[in-house]
Amino acid sequence: MQNGKTAIVTGASGGIGAAIVRKLAADGYNVAILYGGNREKAEAVRQDICDNTDVRAEIYACDVADAAQCKAVVAEIIAAFGSIEVLVNNAGITRDNLILTMREEEFDAVINTNLKGCFHMIQSCCKHFLRKKYGKIINIASVSGLLGTAGQANYAASKAGLIAMTKTAARELAGKNICCNAVAPGFIETAMTQDLKNREQYLNSIPLKRAGQPEDVANTVAFLASDASDYITGTVIRVDGGLAI
Ligand SMILES: NC(=O)c1ccc[n+]([C@@H]2O[C@H](COP(=O)([O-])OP(=O)(O)OC[C@H]3O[C@@H](n4cnc5c(N)ncnc54)[C@H](O)[C@@H]3O)[C@@H](O)[C@H]2O)c1
Repeated sequence: MQNGKTAIVTGASGGIGAAIVRKLAADGYNVAILYGGNREKAEAVRQDICDNTDVRAEIYACDVADAAQCKAVVAEIIAAFGSIEVLVNNAGITRDNLILTMREEEFDAVINTNLKGCFHMIQSCCKHFLRKKYGKIINIASVSGLLGTAGQANYAASKAGLIAMTKTAARELAGKNICCNAVAPGFIETAMTQDLKNREQYLNSIPLKRAGQPEDVANTVAFLASDASDYITGTVIRVDGGLAI
């Protein structure tokens, strides 16, 4: 059943983003499915939601690294849906390399998508949330941003930056009843982790001895989007099977 709220999720055509958008739709949110890549995949997610729920679901192309696109798409969604209550910054990429050999393009691409992309989306939604005196911002970080990971100087820095941005947004916006939190997944089974080297060794280092599923992350996002988390802001919730204990 519709709950009267609208959620927008970036990078939502597959993996964790698609699981988040499906879960929020199942919980009654109207959903704007933002995608950076494949339109057909985004359309398939939309169709599936429309077939299985009574919420409104629409797809929007949006490269989060492009500030103008973020601003335009948020304005379009507000015009179409009437309002936005929940923003989930999920879009992210990896360009792994050792510091010694990492190219500047690899560093910049990851920072521009993972860190600046979130900034663009928060800035684009912020005025609307302030006017409404309501908003839930949920940023998908990573345990890499807490621990650091060899071969991921760009990615770990982007996610650590995202955690600091989460805390800053929480402080700046709390006075207007806007909450901002981060979720830090560990090893979740998606396209991003398909080609992981030393897979068995990695799984063994997880106390729960298994990889997580996109739905594990989606459930935590749904909690942070809901009224059940109204007194939680500026925090980071790990969804990592204990990896970063
Ligand atoms: N899979 C994991 O183990 C894991 C662990 C920790 C954090 N995360 C984070 O979870 C999020 C989702 O990752 P995933 O595992 O589902 O990977 P994924 O590669 O399946 O999904 C990432 C999505 O982001 C989109 N995207 C990439 N660049 C974009 C851009 N510039 N603009 C808009 N969209 C863009 C892609 O099209 C894709 O749909 C990412 O932020 C990732 O860093 C994943």
